Amino acid sequence: MQGNPTQLPSERCLERLPLAEDPIAAHVLSKPRPFVYADQLAVVRDPQYRGTGRLLAKRLVEDAAKGRVSQILCSISHYPIRNTPSLNLAFKLGFKHLEEIEFDSLTFGIYKKEL
Ligand SMILES: CC(C)(COP(=O)(O)OP(=O)(O)OC[C@H]1O[C@@H](n2cnc3c(N)ncnc32)[C@H](O)[C@@H]1OP(=O)(O)O)[C@@H](O)C(=O)NCCC(=O)NCCS
Repeated sequence: MQGNPTQLPSERCLERLPLAEDPIAAHVLSKPRPFVYADQLAVVRDPQYRGTGRLLAKRLVEDAAKGRVSQILCSISHYPIRNTPSLNLAFKLGFKHLEEIEFDSLTFGIYKKEL
């Protein structure tokens, strides 16, 4: 294993990716650590809205809670498309709105769940 051994895999993964141009990643990486950053949870259209996303997201929360992290962060589109399914799912799992970030005519909400 390379790098600072106090860093968690998710943090190392974020830092290894070519994220210098990604405003969300850059913003999230400025947050106090440790945290898990969740991104791109997706369920194919058929069978959406039949419980798969909730199962996957609950598993993410359970796995994160087993580690040394105290919070999960995620970003959800607010504009030009407000991602209502994702927002509803996040609120049901106990995520709270932290802040909004804007770039390139896009707006994303940053959400946080304390573990
Ligand atoms: C967001 C997503 C992962 C949810 O997965 P899913 O399997 O369809 O959702 P579930 O059946 O597990 O529903 C869980 C909760 O999500 C919310 N939800 C899901 N689909 C919804 C819809 N079409 N409208 C409103 N709320 C919705 C509801 O709160 C739902 O709880 P409920 O059943 O008690 O109402 C899925 O809709 C998806 O892949 N969307 C496209 C990709 C995306 O936007 N990913 C997130 C951004 S990274």
